[in-house]
Amino acid sequence: MSVQAPIKRKTGPDICARKGGEPIVMLTSYHAHTATMADRYCDAILVGDSLGNVMHGFETTVPVTLEMMILQGSAVMRGSRQALVVVDMPFGTYEASKEQAFHSAARIMKETQCGAVKLEGGVRMAETIRFLSERGIPVMGHIGLTPQSINMLGSFRAQGREEADWAPIENDARAVAEAGTFAVVIEAVAEPLARKITAAIPVPTIGIGASVACDGQVLVLEDMLGLSPKPAKFVRRYGNLGPAIEEAVAAYAADVRSRAFPAAEHVYGMKTKA
Ligand code: KIV
Repeated sequence: MSVQAPIKRKTGPDICARKGGEPIVMLTSYHAHTATMADRYCDAILVGDSLGNVMHGFETTVPVTLEMMILQGSAVMRGSRQALVVVDMPFGTYEASKEQAFHSAARIMKETQCGAVKLEGGVRMAETIRFLSERGIPVMGHIGLTPQSINMLGSFRAQGREEADWAPIENDARAVAEAGTFAVVIEAVAEPLARKITAAIPVPTIGIGASVACDGQVLVLEDMLGLSPKPAKFVRRYGNLGPAIEEAVAAYAADVRSRAFPAAEHVYGMKTKA
């Protein structure tokens, strides 16, 4: 009888220890089977609240609920074995108080068994991040463009475009790092600012539209596969699955309509009487 060595999943501290080392590879996934594929190549898988846009067709991430995140987070945990799975805390489930944040994060961790949560916000969320980290919940930060604040920001545009606007973003990065995050996503900021932040904080920065100057990168899987109708401008495509899927659907529809669809006797090898 052979005894299989258990596969050890990566943890927040493992990711944190990669600061300044081999770049951290992270992708989003919301399903078991894409998680299995991502798991072979990624250090961390993000169950992003971008599932609101990608899976549910919402214009923003604001309508996403804790239940949606828990359902898809559990699927990703079932599909993956070695990557750290990070589940986003959705809008309205953590901002009111640190106690509200703990309650929501604990539900995510218990019901999905993921290894960490991610929340948006810098200085304003530092106290909450400290509260969660001190109570056993590894937190990934998210600064720069924070899509859950779209109704205050007005548009999904890059942040810190002028050097004069950098200081608040740098302060956000320092605040979340000091509060105990094990890594920080920096979204849609220019390279010089990303470089400055990466040099300034002791935890890894994970960029999305924030240049190669970060300690790692994250992309929305469907964006990089060419499956999203409106990917952000900075997204590099590694596939073009949209047209391939449409072609397959069209071929299937044509087969069904022309009765060329394989008949049961063909599939099961049954003989039909002439
Ligand atoms: O929800 C998400 O997919 C994210 C990434 C954009 C980092 O937060």
